[in-house]
Amino acid sequence: MSTVLYEKKGHVGLITLNNPKKLNALSAAFMTEIENAVAEVEKDTDVYVCIITGVEKAFIAGADISEMCPLTAAGAIAWGKQGTDLNLRIENLRVPVIAAVNGFALGGGCELAMACDIRIASEKAKFGQPEVGLGITPGAGGTQRLPRLVGAGIAKELLYTGRMINAQEAYRIGLVNKVTAPEELMDAAFALADEIIKNAQIAVQQTKRCVNRGIETDIVTGIDFEQQAFAVCNATEDKQIGMGAFLRKEKEKNFVYR
Ligand code: HXC
Repeated sequence: MSTVLYEKKGHVGLITLNNPKKLNALSAAFMTEIENAVAEVEKDTDVYVCIITGVEKAFIAGADISEMCPLTAAGAIAWGKQGTDLNLRIENLRVPVIAAVNGFALGGGCELAMACDIRIASEKAKFGQPEVGLGITPGAGGTQRLPRLVGAGIAKELLYTGRMINAQEAYRIGLVNKVTAPEELMDAAFALADEIIKNAQIAVQQTKRCVNRGIETDIVTGIDFEQQAFAVCNATEDKQIGMGAFLRKEKEKNFVYR
């Protein structure tokens, strides 16, 4: 049985991390399986939103410590690159990615969740970057994405202490967008996906690109990205459908993703 499950539900590509005995710890082999699932989303233009979740009590309890323990500095660079590249690949996926965080999201797990566009969490979720307690720094973007999401002061406190926080605290600091009862998590993730799916997908995807690229640059360059995206969208059939429906006072918009 595969430890990473991929299924398509309508326009949603659902990736379920399914190695509960190891709390979904990120071994090299497990990361390769996640990469393969992400590749399924990448190549399928009928997928508009990707959701990543875990089973039982973990989203991902971090990188596999038994694999990391023997690494030398040189080995760590190669090993860490796989997690780093996976997170960049998720971040740069054409479609929005929702992390539906069901349980522990620690170390590399918190890092993967932060590479997603939006995080929603079960009340049972726990977040943290405990690496300094293991004698290492985060290795897959934690020192970079956490301050961008919650601000440098709070990020530094979490990174220096290695403290684990619960879902409510993650919500308070802006690490997650919403907290749900555990049994409502997937419904909430799919409801959010549906809200995105009903819109014009070229516009959604261009918006993702603008936010991701713009947040890493100065405002003049960022606005230039936005202007290019605005021009691209104005040449689409979906723009005519969206604006036409408004002008005809019609509610129904059957976007065609062209
Ligand atoms: C390897 C892990 C693991 C991990 C859990 N397990 N987390 N194995 N690497 N990160 C294994 C346990 O060894 C155990 O295996 C089984 O999963 C169940 O875990 P328990 O500890 O028995 O569960 P519990 O008591 O409920 O505690 C849950 C926990 C704890 C609080 C999440 O497992 C924990 O602290 N895990 C490590 C968390 C962590 O430090 N993560 C950051 C790693 S550093 P057995 O065989 O004994 O049943 C990192 C760097 C990123 O992520 C670098 C990216 C490139």
